[in-house]
Amino acid sequence: MTNGDNVLFEPFTLGDLELPNRIIMAPLTRARASQPGDVPSDMNARYYAQRASAGLIISEATQVSQQGQGYAYTPGIYTPEQITGWRKVTDAVHAAGGRMHAQLWHVGRISHPELQPGGELPVGPSAIKPEGSQVFISADSGMVDIPTPRALEADELPGIVEQYRQGAENAREAGFDGIEIHAANGYLLDQFIKSGSNHRTDDYGGSVENRLRFPMMVVEAVKQVWPAARIGIRVSPTGSFNSMFDADPHSTFRALARKVQEAGLAYIEVVEDSFQGNHENGRPESVIDAIREEFTGAYIGNGAYSRNEAIERINAGRCDLASFGRPIIANPDLVERFRQDAPLNEWDASTFYGGDERGYTDYPTLAESQ
Ligand code: PHB
Repeated sequence: MTNGDNVLFEPFTLGDLELPNRIIMAPLTRARASQPGDVPSDMNARYYAQRASAGLIISEATQVSQQGQGYAYTPGIYTPEQITGWRKVTDAVHAAGGRMHAQLWHVGRISHPELQPGGELPVGPSAIKPEGSQVFISADSGMVDIPTPRALEADELPGIVEQYRQGAENAREAGFDGIEIHAANGYLLDQFIKSGSNHRTDDYGGSVENRLRFPMMVVEAVKQVWPAARIGIRVSPTGSFNSMFDADPHSTFRALARKVQEAGLAYIEVVEDSFQGNHENGRPESVIDAIREEFTGAYIGNGAYSRNEAIERINAGRCDLASFGRPIIANPDLVERFRQDAPLNEWDASTFYGGDERGYTDYPTLAESQ
């Protein structure tokens, strides 16, 4: 290793949290919460504890209400049982020496009446159907098309902000070290941010300032519960997953970064592709520049990073930390394997969503496979 190669394995202060390295476990939907009630289980605790050597674990996306759920078997953080379940997870991660943030999630229009309270339509900023997107509603029905959502009334927004605030409070009760606001990948906050999904003509749509208003209300609400140093936000400026589009991601996300700077959050995690590592046009370097110019907190790069690309980009000042998804699903000891530059287990995409221990807690460590 040259000196620069060490950078991934050096401690990093994220907000006021001391991380032993710069390798972050990205938020990853695994759809394995126990039923009924979408409650984190002992199996989920084992999975996360196996990955506790990461500098920070960000939980899988976790709905703040039933209205915020878009897929069967994803965990929630709004019932006492769910809070108790998450406490088992955070205790296991802490006992294994790790740190963990809860990712707070509301899917907005990416849902289905079968998952919604009272069988109602999913809600979004505007009644615009996400063309081509599907959600998984049950083992029997599988993936189904999404209906046109109902546009939220402005007077409903404070109630949703309160769902996030309560989720933040529940995350504290559940023993998390902090929270990440999910504002990426075409879910509710991203739907407000981007021009393609937000055609509102009131204070919450139109100008960039207006489109950022509701997401920033959420930021302010969770700051009533957590110090800003323990809060991050995830965005996907050029993401097209879930039928997303923004006419000017450079300006939109420059403005967002400026507001997140004013709010003093610890970090911005940026999905630097269209989805799941699809770099048709490379990483969106000019958007990354704009965010880094406005935001002096930590920048977590995400999107199919290899070990060496993470090292190169940190050394080049393009990111401060890197979050990994599929490699850390398949390699619970990803940090040690990266340290040794050892070979990685391959992931099995067929076991990403739903199921049991298989493809979840049974990937071997380097020591186990030797
Ligand atoms: C998914 O369940 O497919 C999913 C969830 C959260 C994301 C992206 C994808 O941010």
